[in-house]
Amino acid sequence: MYKINTNYQKLPGSYLFSTIAKKVSAYKETNPEADLIKLGIGDVTQPLVPAIIDALHGAVDEMADKDTFRGYAPDLGYEFLRNAIVENDYKKRGCDISADEVFISDGAKSDSGNIQELFGTDNIIAVCDPVYPVYIDSNVMAGRCGNYDEKTGKWSDVVYMPCTRENGFVPEYPAKAPDIIYLCNPNNPTGTALNLDEVQGWVDYARKNGSIIIYDAAYESYITEPGIPHSIYQCEGARECAIEIRSFSKNAGFTGVRLGFTVVPKDIAAGGVRLRDMWARRHGTKFNGAPYIVQRAGEAVYSAEGAKQVAEEVGIYMKNAHALKDGLKDAGYEVYGGVNAPYIWLHTPDDMTSWEFFDFLLEKANVVGTPGSGFGPSGEHYFRLTAFGTYEDSMRALERIKKL
Ligand SMILES: Cc1ncc(COP(=O)(O)O)c(C=O)c1O
Repeated sequence: MYKINTNYQKLPGSYLFSTIAKKVSAYKETNPEADLIKLGIGDVTQPLVPAIIDALHGAVDEMADKDTFRGYAPDLGYEFLRNAIVENDYKKRGCDISADEVFISDGAKSDSGNIQELFGTDNIIAVCDPVYPVYIDSNVMAGRCGNYDEKTGKWSDVVYMPCTRENGFVPEYPAKAPDIIYLCNPNNPTGTALNLDEVQGWVDYARKNGSIIIYDAAYESYITEPGIPHSIYQCEGARECAIEIRSFSKNAGFTGVRLGFTVVPKDIAAGGVRLRDMWARRHGTKFNGAPYIVQRAGEAVYSAEGAKQVAEEVGIYMKNAHALKDGLKDAGYEVYGGVNAPYIWLHTPDDMTSWEFFDFLLEKANVVGTPGSGFGPSGEHYFRLTAFGTYEDSMRALERIKKL
């Protein structure tokens, strides 16, 4: 008789966004005339830019011709894309990364969920609280987090690093060093960002303690302030202790197209085994590459025209972020984020819980957001609004919230 992976049964009930979807559809059923504005899930709304569409069309035509048709992609991804990444994302920022350390994938969710496979199940992970849920859940599935306590909302073997208004959303170093440290910078869900000195502090801490940092920079293109690092490899020593994960979803609207990459420097090794080689082995065995057509589209993101066009789209979302942030502040809300990330993180008024505020906003303003407590216990009394809606919707939502 086969046996299932019982770690899956440890995962608590329903995923945050399905709970939200259920609540919203129940509300819609009893209020069919309600004009709901959804600023909940972090999905983009702008279409792909012309330079990317041209690249997609060009690659589709290549696939139609026997002389230019492509089958399986090379294990790490096409060189044209890996070279463009190295040149633009790393060399231009003074980071020493080579193309054979870059692994093309179908997105940052898969990579951030899969990367834990490189580590033994007895490693202790540390996460910021609140957190992008994939980091914890993927470790639970592998049998790494101990048991879940419904009352505290915590896993027994996970080190939680609270990020709240009290510490300026800067995680503190755990007293006992964890083995694997997940950092998301700029941060989802808080919309805040660690500066270069703060990230350097984590690199120093990891090197001192023999920890590894999994650095998720999915929102890198939203950075507007000069002191915020675009890559962890801007920090000294990061090549020895940090894996960086990136996405084309938020900078270029690839949430439905699917493309991302992970950088595993050759300097990271344990017991003489290079993690880069392990990840290459895993990639070769479990992944057959992002589609050629999509990798060509990714290359177009780095062309002069493509870079300009995607920057304009990021600008559209950031205009929403600034307007939402300023408007909510004017209305008396305590608001964070929205400067280096497309998320607004507000503190709920009148001591409402995150879910109470969710219901209040849904019923009184017909606006859907995301309860902060869904991202971890320290997210309680916070609420996330995304700037990924249209400008019109963002402003309509703001007007409704201001009237409450
Ligand atoms: C922090 C973070 N990492 C990764 C992802 C997923 O990115 P992708 O679409 O490339 O899988 C998201 C998506 O919301 C995210 O917020």
